[in-house]
Amino acid sequence: MILDPFKMLYAIERKRDLSESFNQARARLSREVWDRFSIGCDSGPLSKVGVAWQPISQQWAQRLLECFASSEMVALRREDYVDGYLSNLSAPIINYLNTVNEYRAVTPDLLTTLGKFLADHESQISQWINHSWRASSIRPFNLRPTNVAGSRHLDGWPPAIRKMFILPGGASPETGTTWFRLRNGDELLFDHPRPCLLIFENSVVEHGLVSGHAPRPTSELDIVPARKTITEPFYPGLNGWYPWFPEKNKLHHLSAVLRKGLRSAT
Ligand SMILES: [Fe+2]
Repeated sequence: MILDPFKMLYAIERKRDLSESFNQARARLSREVWDRFSIGCDSGPLSKVGVAWQPISQQWAQRLLECFASSEMVALRREDYVDGYLSNLSAPIINYLNTVNEYRAVTPDLLTTLGKFLADHESQISQWINHSWRASSIRPFNLRPTNVAGSRHLDGWPPAIRKMFILPGGASPETGTTWFRLRNGDELLFDHPRPCLLIFENSVVEHGLVSGHAPRPTSELDIVPARKTITEPFYPGLNGWYPWFPEKNKLHHLSAVLRKGLRSAT
């Protein structure tokens, strides 16, 4: 039997951290490759202030709430991601996310519904970001009412990867929402209590969780640049966020990471 070194590497990483030199080399090369892949992506209306939204229909809101109702509660777990994906490996961050979010399982019904939703809203999303895209991950959750104060931060991802929230009950200070520092310097406390779709540049505009007093249903999707738009979302596990490398020949990139990591370790 031939052992695949990359599969072995990911199997190890599910249980414990890899060496710092490998992690740094992978993060550096990932950013370089994504930045090259994303040339020209900073040009749509979203790039003006970094946040865009639109109302969605009551029918869509109802359909999404039905999916939530039939989906069981689950916890975000370190090992729940597919090979080749960036994941949250820090126990304090995973604990924090499980404290503020009550995660739901991604059922086949929810996956199909989100695909239809994205197909229905494709032209709006494409108009906002002005390039081809696909959804690289899905996390359904109820934002819990808590007293936890969210830090104001940037996510530190390649800037052309954006976060999208589908909010069947809207988002407001009552249900919990997000504070933003827009690209033009203005502050925005998102306050739209009706069903809506929100997209923001999570690594360009500072943002922070504002907790509320009632659970807030949310489908969180990460939107990545793509060679052509694919509205069928990909589910890489609850703890999978985006692929380290955008192209199909990931082995080539990982080989380069290994070489760099080994060089800097010796
Ligand atoms: Fe964030």
